[in-house]
Amino acid sequence: MKKSESKSRRKFLRQASAGTLAVGAANLITSKTHGAPRVIQLESEPEPQRTIGPNDKIRFGLIGAGGMGHGDTETALRVKGVEFVAAADIYDGRLTHVKEVWGKDIFTTRDYREVLARPDIDAVIIATPDHWHQRIAIDAMNAGKDVYCEKPVVQKLEEGNALIEAQQRTKRIFQGGSQFSSSVIYQKAAELVAAGKIGTLNLVDSSLWRRGALSAWQYTIPADASPQNIDWDRFLGNAPKRPFEPIRLFRWRNYRDYGTGIGGDLFVHQFTGAHLVTGAKGPVRVVTTGGTRLWNDGRDVPDVLLGLFDYPAMNGRPAFNMNFRVSFADGGTEREGWGSWAYRFVGNDGVIELVNDALVVKRPPEAKTPPPPSGEFAEAVISQMRKEHFAKYPRRESEVTAVTEERYLPPDKYDERLDHFKNFFNAMRSRKPVYQDAAQAYRNAAPALLANVSYFERRVCEWNPETLTLKA
Ligand SMILES: NC(=O)c1ccc[n+]([C@@H]2O[C@H](COP(=O)([O-])OP(=O)(O)OC[C@H]3O[C@@H](n4cnc5c(N)ncnc54)[C@H](O)[C@@H]3O)[C@@H](O)[C@H]2O)c1
Repeated sequence: MKKSESKSRRKFLRQASAGTLAVGAANLITSKTHGAPRVIQLESEPEPQRTIGPNDKIRFGLIGAGGMGHGDTETALRVKGVEFVAAADIYDGRLTHVKEVWGKDIFTTRDYREVLARPDIDAVIIATPDHWHQRIAIDAMNAGKDVYCEKPVVQKLEEGNALIEAQQRTKRIFQGGSQFSSSVIYQKAAELVAAGKIGTLNLVDSSLWRRGALSAWQYTIPADASPQNIDWDRFLGNAPKRPFEPIRLFRWRNYRDYGTGIGGDLFVHQFTGAHLVTGAKGPVRVVTTGGTRLWNDGRDVPDVLLGLFDYPAMNGRPAFNMNFRVSFADGGTEREGWGSWAYRFVGNDGVIELVNDALVVKRPPEAKTPPPPSGEFAEAVISQMRKEHFAKYPRRESEVTAVTEERYLPPDKYDERLDHFKNFFNAMRSRKPVYQDAAQAYRNAAPALLANVSYFERRVCEWNPETLTLKA
């Protein structure tokens, strides 16, 4: 990876398509007026390998030392009392680069199980391609490690329950890697929705538009890639066996055998944010469409994906709908080469707009108050009607269209991933679970994977968000 590309990709990874958000309380900038998982039999608690006290160092290992693995490691090391000791990757070039960046003392190996076998390691960050997430996460928890696992935490729907079971049985801290659940901006949006600021929520609309080859996953394939420095069979894992073909490793997102397409790469973030803000457990119906419109480069996943998701009534709150759109074929302008991410949380009495790193609440004064009578009617009739109207609704006409707007911004240089790692490491010390534990991370990943089922099988998927099961 060229330095410039590596830098811009790293920057993107930090921004994670949605804009740079991060820790602490969001600042109110303006306020103005204008116009159930399945039942699982638990086993007794295993002994943790080491008890971490509040002042002890936490030592972690990295499994999958590519773009995000580097980004996550950099971010994790910004948290006090944390040390990076070992890395596993199936490509030797990645391990060489780990030593270049973090020093020759970092233990490196092609086999992640050697990292898990080390008693001095408390936690692992899993940043491999998606098809390895669940397997490594379960092996890590069984080895007594706490786990920060990149999204989507499973590649296939049928992997979810075993992941949840492993976490509940081992009682390890598990954090799903979609950082938006730790974002102060999303948390503020959740607070505002719960406080009724936009009235009853009826729609969540989210879109991400991108332009450019890097945005479309055409990552660099290093010139030295060969069967000698890549453990090809270990990369394939349970995926179908096939001869060495480096494009499938370095651009794994483009292939269903290893990745999860737009659904698992991007919708999963949208679900994480939307579930946090709405408190919803998941949709009951999923339907998607799309196609490969621009990037006909051999990929077997679409580059445009549109999804509709029906959410059921819950805890006295009525049903609502979600609508997600992602396009890599956007001919419009882009933000710093990576695209723009926008959400609208629409309620009966107002709207929360979340665009990149800003949150705006817009409320018209009284949506259901009838407007003053107007129109091409006889003068005497309309003026009498207006007189009666203003006697009944004593306010000026301008007030009918006035909108109250509140805008929230994160602190300067906010980075929600740093908060996400702080939450993880704090939970490791306190042993109190994080919000995005295995069950919640699966709740966020499942509809993203259902989006793929709907697209590839051309059907409407009916999902039970309580039992986490798909109706055949
Ligand atoms: N949270 C976010 O915003 C965000 C952003 C980007 C990527 N991600 C996630 O991070 C993960 C990695 O993505 P990436 O962009 O870094 O990909 P990448 O290809 O840059 O890195 C993956 C690394 O895993 C290695 N690998 C493959 N199989 C392995 C195995 N069996 N054992 C050890 N290492 C193995 C590869 O050699 C590669 O170095 C993905 O799950 C992706 O969805 C999350």
